[in-house]
Amino acid sequence: MEKRPFINKDQLEAVCAEYPTPFHLYDEAEIRRRARALNAAFSWNPGFKEYFAVKATPNPWIVSILAEEGCGCDCATGVELTLAEACGVTGENIMLSSNDTPDEDYRHAAELGAIINLDSLDMVDCLVRALDGKLPKMVCCRVNPGGTFSSANGIIGNPQDAKFGMTVPQLMEAFSRLAELGVEDFGIHAFLASNTQENDYYPRLSRQLFELAVRAHEELGVHVGLIDLSGGIGVDYRPEDAAADIAAIGEGVREAYEQVLVPAGMGDVRICSELGRWMLAPAGGLVTRVIHEKLTYKDYLGVDACAANLMRPAIYDAYHHITVMGKEDEPAERAYNVVGRLCENNDQFAHDRMLPLTTIGDLLFIHDAGAHGFSMGYNYNGALRSAELLWREDGSVQQIRRAETSADYFATFDADPRFSSLAKK
Ligand SMILES: Cc1ncc(COP(=O)(O)O)c(C=O)c1O
Repeated sequence: MEKRPFINKDQLEAVCAEYPTPFHLYDEAEIRRRARALNAAFSWNPGFKEYFAVKATPNPWIVSILAEEGCGCDCATGVELTLAEACGVTGENIMLSSNDTPDEDYRHAAELGAIINLDSLDMVDCLVRALDGKLPKMVCCRVNPGGTFSSANGIIGNPQDAKFGMTVPQLMEAFSRLAELGVEDFGIHAFLASNTQENDYYPRLSRQLFELAVRAHEELGVHVGLIDLSGGIGVDYRPEDAAADIAAIGEGVREAYEQVLVPAGMGDVRICSELGRWMLAPAGGLVTRVIHEKLTYKDYLGVDACAANLMRPAIYDAYHHITVMGKEDEPAERAYNVVGRLCENNDQFAHDRMLPLTTIGDLLFIHDAGAHGFSMGYNYNGALRSAELLWREDGSVQQIRRAETSADYFATFDADPRFSSLAKK
């Protein structure tokens, strides 16, 4: 499908008059639309909850909008737990889906009443140690069945190569031990393929997890009350990609539920998701201006953003569509490499990308940057992270995070009197 930004050139220039480029811009209306579509797709399951993967877009304004739409938080670290709490998300509305987890994060999660999702069998002992034996009533475990994961179109994931999760026998052992320790309710979590383009990923995953839940119930006598399908639903980064059909996905999970869980007398199981990319990627873009042009063996457009603001193209060679604002209807007849300023040749947002004739001063909108975009930012070369702005439903713009300054960059030298003045510049 043709990709158009959610904002036009005049509107965006007006935003730039107040906030200098580069910045990430999020569309509140689209965020709410997506949350509502997901909740509608799973409304057949009364306990359904999306635990938004905070790592995708860890901004309290975004998390709060999602909380208003009924979403909880999936947190990976203690810092993300703090962010969730600051947004008023507490108790079982938080899921700690972490790995290689330090004891203090388990304590923090338990204090908040969060659901704890254990990534490995040895974490049972860690949890007992961290919580002084006072385990929560409900604990979730992350399973990794190994092998490959296939959709109807072939292999889409390689769980065997992933560091995450425990084997099926380990999960059974974890459940037995946790039950002996007084845990009464169990969850099963798995994330077996990423950025999936097929509508059958969740339905196939859920069927596997439902069958495992029935087995755990029958063999161990435990109550499995929660199936966490985690993240992994993809987005149409390329115009030729098909967007996920969330209603069809919800329906596919419902069919598996009715075929596997209901006949086993397990029709009380709650489903949850931890979507990050699907929830937020299309609702955000990176806005940047062309500041240089260089014609050598390629035609380069130098922009004022760099991989520090969006590193997916640099590390995964990921495609992000680019719109030259105001030239949406001009023919894309020239091949450009769109590059940032880092001293790394992979700091390129696009290679040989066909765009309309583009000149210094043009504004570019880099699509689908709303998830795993700003949040993966880093400071290599002293590059500073940009602001984040929210395009509100009423058409106003709100800065929801200011741009970093050099004082932020130097802030962690504040204990050393020789350099602490840098932190004030
Ligand atoms: C445990 C966990 N849950 C959810 C997500 C979100 O995944 P996605 O953005 O693909 O939906 C991730 C992503 O890394 C994850 O590690």
